[in-house]
Amino acid sequence: MKFGHFDDVKKEYVISSPKTPYPWINYLGTQAFFSLISNTAGGYSFYKDARLRRITRYRYNNVPIDMGGRYFYINDNGTIWNPGWSPVKTELDEYECRHGMGYTVIRGKKNGLSAEATFFVPQDFDGEVQQLVLTNESSEAKEFALFSFAEWCLWDAQDDSNNFQRNFSTGRVEVKGSVIYHKTEYRDRRNHYAFYSVNDEIDGYDTDRDSFIGLYNGFDKPQAVEAGKANDSFADGWAPIASHYKKISLAPGESKTLVFVLGYVEMPVDQKFEADGKTINKVKAEEMIAKFATPEKFAEGLAELKAYWDKLLGILNVDTPDDKVNRMVNIWNQYQCMVTFNLSRSASYFESGIGRGMGFRDSNQDILGFVHQIPDRAKERVIDIASTQFPDGGCYHQYQPLTKKGNSDIGGDFSDDPLWLILSVSAYIKETGDWSILDEMVPYDNDVSAAKPMLDHLDVSFYHIVNNLGPHGLPLAMRADWNDCINLSCYSDTPGESFQTYTNPKFEAEGGYSKVAESVMVATLFTYAGPNYVEILKHLGKDEEAAKAQAEIDKMKKNIMESAWDGDWFLRAYDANGDKMGSKECEEGQIFIEPQGFAIMSEIGKDQGCDMKTLAAIDERLNTKYGLVLNNPAFTKYYIQYGEISTYPGGYKENAGIFTHNNAWIICAAAYAGQGDQAFKYYSEIAPAFTEETSDIHKTEPYVYGQMIGGKDAGSDIGRTGDNFGQGKNSWLTGTAAWNMVAISQYILGIMADFDGLKIDPSIPSSWDGFKAKRQYRGATYEIDIKNPDHICKGVKSMTLDGVPVEGCVVPAAADGGVHKVEVILG
Ligand code: GLC
Ligand code: GLC
Repeated sequence: MKFGHFDDVKKEYVISSPKTPYPWINYLGTQAFFSLISNTAGGYSFYKDARLRRITRYRYNNVPIDMGGRYFYINDNGTIWNPGWSPVKTELDEYECRHGMGYTVIRGKKNGLSAEATFFVPQDFDGEVQQLVLTNESSEAKEFALFSFAEWCLWDAQDDSNNFQRNFSTGRVEVKGSVIYHKTEYRDRRNHYAFYSVNDEIDGYDTDRDSFIGLYNGFDKPQAVEAGKANDSFADGWAPIASHYKKISLAPGESKTLVFVLGYVEMPVDQKFEADGKTINKVKAEEMIAKFATPEKFAEGLAELKAYWDKLLGILNVDTPDDKVNRMVNIWNQYQCMVTFNLSRSASYFESGIGRGMGFRDSNQDILGFVHQIPDRAKERVIDIASTQFPDGGCYHQYQPLTKKGNSDIGGDFSDDPLWLILSVSAYIKETGDWSILDEMVPYDNDVSAAKPMLDHLDVSFYHIVNNLGPHGLPLAMRADWNDCINLSCYSDTPGESFQTYTNPKFEAEGGYSKVAESVMVATLFTYAGPNYVEILKHLGKDEEAAKAQAEIDKMKKNIMESAWDGDWFLRAYDANGDKMGSKECEEGQIFIEPQGFAIMSEIGKDQGCDMKTLAAIDERLNTKYGLVLNNPAFTKYYIQYGEISTYPGGYKENAGIFTHNNAWIICAAAYAGQGDQAFKYYSEIAPAFTEETSDIHKTEPYVYGQMIGGKDAGSDIGRTGDNFGQGKNSWLTGTAAWNMVAISQYILGIMADFDGLKIDPSIPSSWDGFKAKRQYRGATYEIDIKNPDHICKGVKSMTLDGVPVEGCVVPAAADGGVHKVEVILG
């Protein structure tokens, strides 16, 4: 069942019912000011940091789930409604929400009155602008009351949600004309305020929440709205809000357009006040308001935003026989990659904005998905991340975006972290050809005096693995690898201990983690990422170092074959007792997804058919109609030696949930191994545009990936298998976005930036006659035409560049700014 449809021309998802199976959200803002907005206008705004500069308040885990947002209330002769249906929930005669690239339009109609609200954050602007168009579509004159609404957060979202003995006595506002200013703590230590304006005269306002809503009412029944009149209330010490009140009369056919600005302003300390020393200096706010004073200016700002996105999305464009693939690649997957870049894992409807900082592994992987769109910012990000690395190649697992410093609460010793840096730096060079990033001086542990060239960071990353091997010559598992929930040294039996940071006294003397437990996943990631490092060394003419590194990779492959091949797939790990994890010998958790894809792409045991055997095992044991589960069978009891993974009920999250992130590794691997049909099958099981048809089951947005989907084992240990199978969770901010972008564009469609040029080696469904693509790459534009006359999956028979045959399948970088035609024949 669907709740809307894609409008590919406008690059929008059009939602036709407010009662989606979960709030379906969008993000506004690409630089400093951000808003989350649901299809019923719920959500909130923040400036740069979702915790420390929260502009509007939002209550997570609320009942109902999505309460609080920017709302317009209409009281039309006693009929009270919102254009977005919620929170009043009066049945509308018409409703539509269009989520586009950085903007959202919500339109409702009731009793002949239509209200269309458009929301976006303009480029280079610290605020959300909103345009409300009210049209009397009836044949009678209408007179009604309009109320706007926003609830201020007292800046620090965490403090705001727990320090009530103070917060109930700090709120402060000012009102001047039609602008409501929020200035809590501005008199003393803060140099920022927020405001909410409308470009017209108003008939009243409210700034005190209880006066507007009423102590015994909810957002669905604000008493001021019910009374049809504002109170001109003043929040002094109490919960501040901003609500404009306006009486509007419209003749039949007449429209009224209002533009609102919800803005944020920072002031130099010596200019904070007017001459009286207490009235806030409003000059900057007034400039911002003037910028969007008219519908024409509003339209210009929106057009500028659309042009920005068209440019970003124009770098890669494909035309395949499958519309769903086209809309994922050309629009939504790229959009999600950019949002993930901007927000990391901070603020979504599942991430509360007050939690963790940026992840070392997460942010490096994000680069893989958006580097072609904004390589300069990718470079900046890579350098920020690498600056938090330790001199021995280990890494802080997270860092804080405001300070860019490593987060010592979580610390380091996540065994996979360093390898992702090799992949992200390589991806940057492959995209841009800018080898100079290797010479950039990059601090260790944020200590500028300890800065070394980026190449040095790659050296220590590579050798951090080599220098930390266990008894089978496989990398030590440490606190966790990519799977945060496989904690082989934790042995926790006390509630509240963090599985990732708790140090069991057992391993204290060994440095905090077992020197026996080994990760096969990290071993295969090493053999997958390592060759990039070797290539880089060769390019720099460091042949001896390259040969030495290659020898380590070869040795690792040998060790994997000797100790980590289980007969039909690769093991997951050795635990701290030296027992196998992810083996046929195990009672539960016999096969895991994570090591398999990288092993196949590293061609480990390929000559003995290990790749095909593994792909067959994956298809048999892990695949479901909604994607590949992470492990099988699910754990049904707590295995203290494995850690957090077995604390999840089977079928959820890392315990046999469908983790869409590493589904992509299998899609890549199947494509790599020439199994384009199998790759495409897995791709289409989880790609949002394909799950649209089952939105009632999938529940989260059909235009973006979520981190996980309930697996086939969900509910099995309580006899309710099937209830939540296929249900998506944790949408938007996930490494899934980047990896599935890689899977479809680089492995299936096979257009992959390489060190020396653009490699074109598709692995597509055999039913396809071919496809076309346009790719801007290192200053030139390539118009690529792939023909598949023999209906195979993979294999380039011939390739021409501007009509001239090319050896192999790499188009050498042309960098001449021109347009070039590439023709590829598969066969
Ligand atoms: C989450 C984390 C990521 C981790 C994954 C698996 O997505 O953000 O770092 O790799 O879970 O545990
Ligand atoms: C990751 C995992 C999650 C786990 C958390 C621990 O985000 O996805 O399951 O609880 O890490 O910090």
